[in-house]
Amino acid sequence: MKKFIVCLGLIALLPLVPPPAAGEANLKEASPGEVNLYSYRQPFLIKPMLDEFTKRTGIRVNTVFAKKGVLEKIKATPGVADAVLTSDVGRLNDMSEAGVLLPVKSDILEKNIPVQFRHPGGLWFGLTMRARILFVSKKRVKQAEATSYEDLTKPGLRGRVCIRSGKHVYNISLIASIIAHKGEAATRIWLEGVKANLARKPGGNDRAQAKAIYSGQCDIGIGNTYYMGKMQTNRKKRAQRKWAASIRIVFPNQAGRGAHVNISGAAIIRGAKNRTNAVKLIEFLSGDFAQKFYADQNFEYPVKPGVPVSPIVKSWGDFKADTISLTTVAKHRRAASKLVDLVDFNNSTKSSNN
Ligand SMILES: [Fe+2]
Repeated sequence: MKKFIVCLGLIALLPLVPPPAAGEANLKEASPGEVNLYSYRQPFLIKPMLDEFTKRTGIRVNTVFAKKGVLEKIKATPGVADAVLTSDVGRLNDMSEAGVLLPVKSDILEKNIPVQFRHPGGLWFGLTMRARILFVSKKRVKQAEATSYEDLTKPGLRGRVCIRSGKHVYNISLIASIIAHKGEAATRIWLEGVKANLARKPGGNDRAQAKAIYSGQCDIGIGNTYYMGKMQTNRKKRAQRKWAASIRIVFPNQAGRGAHVNISGAAIIRGAKNRTNAVKLIEFLSGDFAQKFYADQNFEYPVKPGVPVSPIVKSWGDFKADTISLTTVAKHRRAASKLVDLVDFNNSTKSSNN
């Protein structure tokens, strides 16, 4: 009884309206001379660059770091947000299809960013590049066993492949790129083949696939390049260094179309009140200082020609990237998502107990 009264007392002390969870805040109107920014990219990476931008230009940046729902926030408060930072052409494409992006013409952006990494009409701009590569067990996978995405369907790899959800934005873009090259019918056969080779139900993030290889649950996974750098150098979670040490990086399809690459990027929002400042911000992010920062802090490939990659990334060697335009890839994302459902990719009967 006493316990019950104590509980009631605690409930009475709780505020009626819970405070908003981190990342759920909305931007408020900016004053002139500022920029209002939504960022899906994390503070450790973005904040130091914004501070440097403010130091150089005097333009203050009001930033809301979000994990989801930015498109909804933009739609709910038209004219408030000026720019957005996000990863994967998929998210930028969703915003462009929703009609919330403003086309931009900038000589600096056109000079700094190669044509395949920006929207042809200036609706979005890639700021960094990453490849979607194979993580393979050093011990259990021979060099010739897996050199391409297509190899993941080989009968010899039955029960040895692991991957995050087929519906994740990174995998949808990869699948969309395969549709762009080979068509839907061939891609469906590929997805079915990968599903047949899965060691466990799709799940976890990219790093979880490296962990699964380290612990012997599977032999081959798929992940983005920068996660390898983050695992190799992780100071807080040292176990991740062991995961990374157990795998070898394979840049797929080097004898053919090249590895699927994607971007993180930026866009200006339709109705932006501080458009000029927002363009200056994206131009700054495409310049030497920010490009080097992205490369050193997050092991991404700079899009600006001539900016060096980090020593860790350099140690992986050069690779051939698929040069198909990302706008073409983005056109096939809906079909890719439908195929994932059609083959019931995420419902592999294999158990996922990791
Ligand atoms: Fe990521």
